[in-house]
Amino acid sequence: MNAIDLEEASSPAGVRQVVPSNSAHCSHLDVEFGHEVNPSATKSRHSSASELWDEETRTSGTNRVIRTRVVALFMLLLSLRNTTRSQEIPFPHNAVVCERCHSVPAKFGSSSVTVRRVGEISRGHFIAGAEGGIRHSRGESSENGRLDRLIGQRASLNLLGDGYIEAIDGRDLERNAQEQHQASQGIGGIAVQAPVFEARGSAIVRGQGRFGWKSQHSSLMSSCADSLRNELGVRNRLNPDEYPTHASGESPTPFDTPNPRTRKTELDRLVEEIRHTAPPPRDENLAGTEAARAGEKVFDGIGCAICHVPTYKTLPPATLINGGTYKVPRFLGNKVIHPYSDFLLHDVGTGDGIPQAAKPEFLDQSTANKFRTPPLWGLRFRATHLMHDGDTSSPERLERGSLSGRKQRKERYP
Ligand code: HEC
Ligand code: HEC
Repeated sequence: MNAIDLEEASSPAGVRQVVPSNSAHCSHLDVEFGHEVNPSATKSRHSSASELWDEETRTSGTNRVIRTRVVALFMLLLSLRNTTRSQEIPFPHNAVVCERCHSVPAKFGSSSVTVRRVGEISRGHFIAGAEGGIRHSRGESSENGRLDRLIGQRASLNLLGDGYIEAIDGRDLERNAQEQHQASQGIGGIAVQAPVFEARGSAIVRGQGRFGWKSQHSSLMSSCADSLRNELGVRNRLNPDEYPTHASGESPTPFDTPNPRTRKTELDRLVEEIRHTAPPPRDENLAGTEAARAGEKVFDGIGCAICHVPTYKTLPPATLINGGTYKVPRFLGNKVIHPYSDFLLHDVGTGDGIPQAAKPEFLDQSTANKFRTPPLWGLRFRATHLMHDGDTSSPERLERGSLSGRKQRKERYP
């Protein structure tokens, strides 16, 4: 089975096929946000150096030249020091471009980079560490480390083809949960009601969660807004608040401002670009082999497909989703796709006690040891960094059952 049925996808108007490459360069967000926050930093360096240079050419006499050069050098060093300082922006972030973590096999793929989540357990409840429980690799915070008693890693996920996942009917995901519970085979995933932040009105609109290791998002817009803010440190329309640890006196995290020409923000552009990507292709040579075909049968036969649900048909074109803010486009609607996931949360014995949510106020403690069944499309590009923590040895450990020595898993695993 291909990731998406070829006859269904024969007119993928606007869908960009992926060319596997490890050196995909980014066209979006390749602005160094450090410069944006304080554009005068680089400017002042150049202008002061060139002003001095001008002065030098105007003066005559060796002494004057030497004196001017010494002053120039001094000024240059001073401005460089200021530049360095202003570029050491204390806003919390992990990277300046999405491709730092989403680049294999191409832009918007996955990678081996993991993000560290932190917090502590107090009276049986998880409390997220500073900045929503992400230990940022860049940016200083006096609060960092204070609550870092429980640490967990989260592997970067693939974004290619996420537009199709967004277009899956939420009722299909609910049905997955009902069928698992009715089958009483010891498997019972839970569906997450994830908030859709772009939905208008004061009441919180929710959709069936499907993105992130905890299915904490149902809309790609909300999920990308979360990443923009929490990975790149760029506040945006859906995440306008400053981190409490950076509220006063410190330089603000940069805002996602609309492009004056297109009126689109970086967030709008990103989401649109991701929706135009096709799922990572499978290896056709390998898939055609006898062993692969036999493997597919075993996969079904022993129950992997109960959670790694192979097939969906996306909603018809023009269906309104995400609280009525997004209409499924023609190129994503009515497509048969094979993501191999139920998008539900399961406790398969790998939990680390850290729940996650779209925003801290939506944290559900009961999800602490559960993970979303990861879609298996594109898995061959994640082969060196599997499972939520990117630990490739964990599936084998899971199969051998040795993980349950540490913690009893709640659900049956084939
Ligand atoms: C430092 C690494 C890193 C950077 C930079 C990063 N991400 Fe991610 N991304 C992750 C990790 C880790 C996850 C899994 C998060 C989780 O649920 O724990 C993820 C998950 C996602 C998801 C959910 C995908 C799915 O199918 O479930 C989306 C969408 C996403 N990122 C978009 C973006 C966008 C857009 C950017 C740039 C604004 C970005 N990411 C930057 C590491 C990163
Ligand atoms: C009870 C539901 C369930 C069943 C049944 C199940 N899985 Fe999974 N699978 C999961 C969950 C949940 C994870 C993520 C666990 C984690 O990251 O800690 C996972 C992870 C994986 C991964 C790693 C994927 C990645 O992107 O990192 C592979 C590979 C996998 N499963 C294959 C299988 C195979 C093969 C079978 C049948 C032997 C199977 N699974 C049966 C729920 C299930």
